[in-house]
Amino acid sequence: MADTNDIQTFIKPYLVPEGSEELNRSLQAMAASFAVTDDKISEIIKGLHKSMKTGLDHDDPDALPMIPTYVNGRPTGKETGTFLALDLGGTNLRVCQVTLKGDTTYSLVQQKFTITQEAKESRLWDFIAECVGVFLEEHDLRPAPGKRTIPCGYTFSFPIYQTGIASGNLSMWNKSFTVPNSVGRDVVNLTQSAFQRHHVPVEVVAVLNDTVGTLMTSGYSHPDTQMGIIFGTGTNAAYWENLENIGKWTGPDRKGEMVVNLEWGAFDNATEVLPYTAHDNKLNRKSSNHGLQVFEKMISGLFLGEVARNAILSLVDQRLIFAGRSSEILNKSYTFDTAYMSEIVADASPDLANVKVVLEGTLDIPPTTLIDRKVVQHVCNMIGTRGVRLSAAAMSAVLLARPELLTSTVSVGIDGSMYQFYPNFERNLYSVSRVFLGEDFVDNRLKLHLAKDGSGVGAAIVAMTVDRDRNR
Ligand code: BGC
Repeated sequence: MADTNDIQTFIKPYLVPEGSEELNRSLQAMAASFAVTDDKISEIIKGLHKSMKTGLDHDDPDALPMIPTYVNGRPTGKETGTFLALDLGGTNLRVCQVTLKGDTTYSLVQQKFTITQEAKESRLWDFIAECVGVFLEEHDLRPAPGKRTIPCGYTFSFPIYQTGIASGNLSMWNKSFTVPNSVGRDVVNLTQSAFQRHHVPVEVVAVLNDTVGTLMTSGYSHPDTQMGIIFGTGTNAAYWENLENIGKWTGPDRKGEMVVNLEWGAFDNATEVLPYTAHDNKLNRKSSNHGLQVFEKMISGLFLGEVARNAILSLVDQRLIFAGRSSEILNKSYTFDTAYMSEIVADASPDLANVKVVLEGTLDIPPTTLIDRKVVQHVCNMIGTRGVRLSAAAMSAVLLARPELLTSTVSVGIDGSMYQFYPNFERNLYSVSRVFLGEDFVDNRLKLHLAKDGSGVGAAIVAMTVDRDRNR
């Protein structure tokens, strides 16, 4: 097995023997800059632990947010009923009617609405109300007899500081959202007011982060679930923590457990630990949330393609690929979709035919040589490998923070486009984690599960518990 603590392991596979010396020198330097050795991962895990501990103790702009979520009851899998759920992601808004069947299974009817640019920039709350209105009408849903509203769980995939199970103030936008007059305000209030304006008879009874939804959904089917993760447009995780370890929790109960939303995308905003390259810095400088979510910018789907585009353009500028020519499309930010990276990395044909289609057909680059295509595939691989190694580092850090859990089986619920579609993502998560969590644990007790549609289903599970407690 390759020695993943030796930097050469991260360089050698990316050399192109038939390419020029100059090209290989540049590739070597690039591969070294994207390499994350085992020692570096250990340092990152240490940094994550320090930041988690500080964040649990008090709010600190340089530490992880570690947000208490007010979710304190594990699902049993026996919950039943039909609930409405809203799931606001980075790309889509999904409105779902979820039926929990009480036998660890569920079914759902859902409608997906692509969030328009206009909604991302200005009229998000009205857009949400309109979509929910359409869903209620198309599925002929109305409040139960004697009730004025339909209770609903609301998954919100942006950082909110929760002040209760159904309230939370937006700490900032990310994923290119910039809706004005929202930061610092209660997102449930903002949504509820839009429902009123649009005469939508729905009441949000619980608001939760998408990672919390994923954790709850996975827990519904696998009661040994300790952690929920999103590796998608953005990235983040939530886990069960002992209340006595959450120093900043000021609620009445100090016993038992509560789900904590890490907001791990914010790790290392002080830029002390992660291995930044010039391509990351360029992306960060030009982004709407400059200096924030720097960890997320190295591993999530919204950003990986842009890091790759920056790296590819740097080779074009050195006239090392594409005969020094780019295209109008490739010159524009965020045109190199992370989905193209997946296609490029997966291309095993001898002449890299799919890479050719993406470069020449989709991105309009002038005719490429096989060397050009190999180089682009290598660049994508370097950045994808770094992404999955950092993802495994973060997952391992969270599991290692509760070592008492690692003696029995541990399930982790995961959702998101990187996990589902990036080639070998899950396999690599397992193999990188083995180094840090131990072979015995990873091979025999760690179970990673796709919690498909987890954020919507999880919202329904939490809404159900709130509704049940209210009607007691
Ligand atoms: C957000 C998190 C969210 C994650 C995954 C991040 O950009 O800050 O709240 O959980 O994306 O969707």
